[in-house]
Amino acid sequence: MRVVSGIQPTGNLHLGNYLGAIRNWVRLQDEVVAASQEGSQCLFFLADLHAISMPYNPEDLRAGTLEMTAALVACGIDPDKSVLFNQAQVPAHAELQWLLSGTARMGWLNRMTQFKDKSGQNREGASIALFTYPVLQAADVLLYQATHVPVGEDQKQHLELARDIAQKFNNDFCADGAPVFTLPDPIVPREAARIMSLRDGMSKMSKSDPSERSRINLSDDADTIMKAVKKAKSDAEPLPSEQAGLAGRPEALNLVTIYAAMTGETIDQVLATYGGEGFGRFKPALGEVLVETLSPISQRFNELKQDRESLDAILARGAAKARELGGKTLNSAYEALGLVRG
Ligand code: TYM
Repeated sequence: MRVVSGIQPTGNLHLGNYLGAIRNWVRLQDEVVAASQEGSQCLFFLADLHAISMPYNPEDLRAGTLEMTAALVACGIDPDKSVLFNQAQVPAHAELQWLLSGTARMGWLNRMTQFKDKSGQNREGASIALFTYPVLQAADVLLYQATHVPVGEDQKQHLELARDIAQKFNNDFCADGAPVFTLPDPIVPREAARIMSLRDGMSKMSKSDPSERSRINLSDDADTIMKAVKKAKSDAEPLPSEQAGLAGRPEALNLVTIYAAMTGETIDQVLATYGGEGFGRFKPALGEVLVETLSPISQRFNELKQDRESLDAILARGAAKARELGGKTLNSAYEALGLVRG
């Protein structure tokens, strides 16, 4: 089992990232350690190379990379159990992206919905990096022969593209030998695959939403969390006693989904308790559940983020290991393509 996933170090780690992805990273890390199988490994990285595809401030990226490292460790990613690093210290990611660019097709990239969303009306003014972003993402996982890639729903399409690229590369260049790449499987949580904004139940909770009130950050203190939940958009109806009753009530569905994901209950179990109740009673209960899990994380995050030297050391050690783990696949890709390197 080879688990690989990444997160952009821009903005704060929020509840959507945590429930959609990071919680699964920690679970898989612990499974891999418990199974202790030869070659099994988890690699988690800060996608700093992806972060330069949108307008940004270099100072913020520098600080954000260390802060996101602290946030991941605070959530339970253990640098002694998993390889934790940032892309910029492992040149093989960018190298492999170029090698895969000969295989990825314009038509495939044209279909990527994230490019359409992020470039908006200004397609001509979007960076080339934003367009080729999914090829770098394919390189990120294929470099390490990833078998499992824990992500939220919004990254599934990018993972399908990674599979298409791997398959075409193997077909085109490895007909006479062993395939160079493994086809990765996305691991998407059944519930909480897509946590929505607290201001609008139709748009995703996101680091780039300008409204701080749209999300809960893992660094928020108890008071901020309680306030954010209290002010979250909801409606005037009481909660139904079954999930079907949440149809057409996106904000209510989102809040119940968050409660279910935090407690490990199903949506119907939550509604069995709170059906018939209004938000005046449900919101404080949700706030408490959030504070209980997130308080220790935010406390640890605030301690860890002060110690820049340790964070630098974690990334340097992880990067050295990642360079070692990716070397063989990178060489095989050069070789398969007929590129002479002496
Ligand atoms: P990023 O940084 O936007 O998000 C990191 C992870 O959090 C998940 N996520 C969500 N899940 C549920 N609800 C939400 N509202 C929500 N918002 C974010 C994302 O699905 C993701 O799993 N392109 C990636 C980073 C990346 C990557 C990779 C991931 C680069 N290379 C290789 C996997 C494998 C991104 O921008 O994620």
